[in-house]
Amino acid sequence: MFEEFNKTEKDRKESGIDKYIVKLDHVAYRVKRGEREKLMTEFTNHLPYRLYKSFEVVSSNAITIALKLHESLPIIVISEGLSDDSIVEKYCQKYGSRVHHLAYEVTDIDKVVEIQKSRGVKFTTDEILGSEEEGIKQIFTLPTEGANHIIEYIQRFGDFDGFFTPSNIAGLMLSTEKLSE
Ligand SMILES: [Fe+2]
Repeated sequence: MFEEFNKTEKDRKESGIDKYIVKLDHVAYRVKRGEREKLMTEFTNHLPYRLYKSFEVVSSNAITIALKLHESLPIIVISEGLSDDSIVEKYCQKYGSRVHHLAYEVTDIDKVVEIQKSRGVKFTTDEILGSEEEGIKQIFTLPTEGANHIIEYIQRFGDFDGFFTPSNIAGLMLSTEKLSE
């Protein structure tokens, strides 16, 4: 039973990647225009979530907010497009409001990507986005076939506690563009 799973798990363990992967950092939703507050409200109704951060992503004409439960992870991130041509809205027109990616904190993203590329994992960009100086490095895998969401690997530096930087968010969002066409 679970032959493929067991074989893959063994291969992954042997690759040496496990020690670099820490925990689930954030769950990112994309919702249709006008639905951001509805989902935020449901989270805060069902659970003690509070508004933690709010960003305007000018390059993609979208708003992104983050909710936090006590001091725990994962953070809930919700993005909503502000116009029909926003990549976020286009994605939602195709797939509906849903989870877009699960982001996992890693301790050495260069190593993680090197290992995963050698194992055949595909990413939405060739290069890791961001830099140590900016406080964050991140990359998206192609969506899983099993559930059609992306896995993000994220490494933060210093006291940076965001989810992207003003300079890399455009690239990050754009890297998913072909997926929403
Ligand atoms: Fe993310």
